[in-house]
Amino acid sequence: MMLHKLFKNVRSIASYGSATTVTQNHTRCLYLTARLQHGEYEWQDPKSEDEVVNIVYITKDGKKVPVKGKVGDNAMYLAHRYEIPMEGACEASLACTTCHVYVHHDYLSRLPDALEKEEDLLDMAPFLKENSRLGCQIILTKELEGMELQLPQATRNFYVDGHVPKPH
Ligand code: FES
Repeated sequence: MMLHKLFKNVRSIASYGSATTVTQNHTRCLYLTARLQHGEYEWQDPKSEDEVVNIVYITKDGKKVPVKGKVGDNAMYLAHRYEIPMEGACEASLACTTCHVYVHHDYLSRLPDALEKEEDLLDMAPFLKENSRLGCQIILTKELEGMELQLPQATRNFYVDGHVPKPH
């Protein structure tokens, strides 16, 4: 069994009985459109306090950067807006691991389960941990208020040689 799948199974056993995952699976579908806009949505400010989702990025040197996001924001494109050095070489097309992040343990079970493709990619990510996820697959919901996302020490880009991702 691949390493990240093993981590996931351990998490599933630990959170068995929670309805959160079912709810979150629906949330993933609801916010898919926002993710497909390649970062434009994340440049829009929240229209009301009801939409606000505050999260904290932690850079690889330990600096905490609080960010006011909103429901539906993609954590990777939101990072680009605020110049957090989360790369995202494949632009959220699930073809790299350069958006690798560690999700604070309190929030892991509030995220939808990783797709098979995300798990396969994470298995190739350097510095994999049990709380590893791909940032481009994290869509903000109100339940993620206060979430911390920590960047790993390094990522590896095996997507396209010479491709230079641009922040949006
Ligand atoms: S940006 Fe490539 S998988 Fe997230």
